[in-house]
Amino acid sequence: MSDLTNHFIGLNTEYKLADGTTKRRLHLDGAASPLVMQTAIDARNALLPHYSNSHSFSHASAHICGQAHTWAKQTILDVCGADERYSLVSLGNGTTAVMNNLARRLKPRSAEKPIVLVSAMEHHANDLPHREQSASVGAQVIHIPLRGESARQGEIDLSALEALLKEHAGKVNYVSFSGVSNVTGIVNPVADIVALAHQYNALAILDAAQSAPHMRLNIAEYDIDFVAFSGHKVYCAGSPGILIAKSEYLAQYPSDEVGGGVVERVDYQSADYLKTYPEREQAGTKDILGLYSLAKVMAALRDYGLDKVSAHGAELWQYAAEKLSTVQGLFIYGQSEQTRLGALSFNIDGIDHGLVASILSDYFGIAVRNECFCAHPYVSSMIKEALWELDLDEVPEDEQEALINRKRGMVRASFSLYNTREDVDALYAALTDIVAKQASFAKEYNVTRSGAYLHKHFVVELSL
Ligand code: ALA
Repeated sequence: MSDLTNHFIGLNTEYKLADGTTKRRLHLDGAASPLVMQTAIDARNALLPHYSNSHSFSHASAHICGQAHTWAKQTILDVCGADERYSLVSLGNGTTAVMNNLARRLKPRSAEKPIVLVSAMEHHANDLPHREQSASVGAQVIHIPLRGESARQGEIDLSALEALLKEHAGKVNYVSFSGVSNVTGIVNPVADIVALAHQYNALAILDAAQSAPHMRLNIAEYDIDFVAFSGHKVYCAGSPGILIAKSEYLAQYPSDEVGGGVVERVDYQSADYLKTYPEREQAGTKDILGLYSLAKVMAALRDYGLDKVSAHGAELWQYAAEKLSTVQGLFIYGQSEQTRLGALSFNIDGIDHGLVASILSDYFGIAVRNECFCAHPYVSSMIKEALWELDLDEVPEDEQEALINRKRGMVRASFSLYNTREDVDALYAALTDIVAKQASFAKEYNVTRSGAYLHKHFVVELSL
């Protein structure tokens, strides 16, 4: 197959910068939403002339869309290494929808097993749904500690996990954890975590939002019970959230979602729902176009070589870490002996994360994300010492909150399949320039109470 790394939409998008020049935008924000692979658009366009609802059965387009849907589900299962024990369910708004669905499905188990273990590095999508559902039935979420401390925390601490599983033996409903952190790019030991959960009769949920674009998931080999990710993280904007689960658990813990397609009979007073799996599983019309294009993208990644994809991610992360750590005053969060890929978060002494991110975009055309990346507890635990060191005594009381807002967060560069060493070099050069000319850059900005830096004279204009 030709070099997939060039097949992305937006690699050559140009923007006017604050200094009046026009530059090609460098996209280093793939952990939020990577650029879309051309394959996704080709797949969508190929299916669109046949577009129809797969709930209809009697016409040709409905048959074609039904087949495309079936093919897509099977292809995604295959690429993710799931065997005949597993099924795929697609759901609304990304990994968040899947985690909410799972937390609700597994809630009835909390009568017997009132503890949920969630790692301390999770995105809110893999924390808050479990907290809310647990709280509603008097169950409890406990956060699994990470190796290392504060700004240098690493992967999930297996001994701490085992200690929790022993302490609450027989009472742990499930262990839910991310494969790759969206903040530090740290890769967790997935197979070991699943094996430990099973050893203590708990189920295992993998949040693969940041792993699916970068690596093999080996779902069957690791015997993972539930896996959640989202098409929009896998180069496929407009795709649904994906749940891959052991079918026996989908049957045992049915979805609470209702609507068309899952009923036997409905009148104004009552409804009889289908009782058996898989007919009871998916209410409503599925996102066939999204699922089909995601399957095509995942098949393209498989054909390109998932090992090559991971090697590229790990190599680029390492190169970036080595290079960026030579920028004066720059600190990279997290520490691990293991491979890291995707997200790399940092701060630079004395320059607010909001200012760094704005200058990168306004003057260098480099897109990164800043603040807490929807992982407030994890980010806070890594920056708390820096916040404690703030000398608030000299700051008027009504300005203290604004100061803390400016300091609470990090800058995150994240690397995707289309990124190169040259991109890292450009980021390095930009950061070096920012450090050297920080005072003159800062003069060009106003800062809001929430910590956002807005250029005094330059605004990005929508020009579609
Ligand atoms: N989950 C997304 C991120 O990490 C939005 O940026």
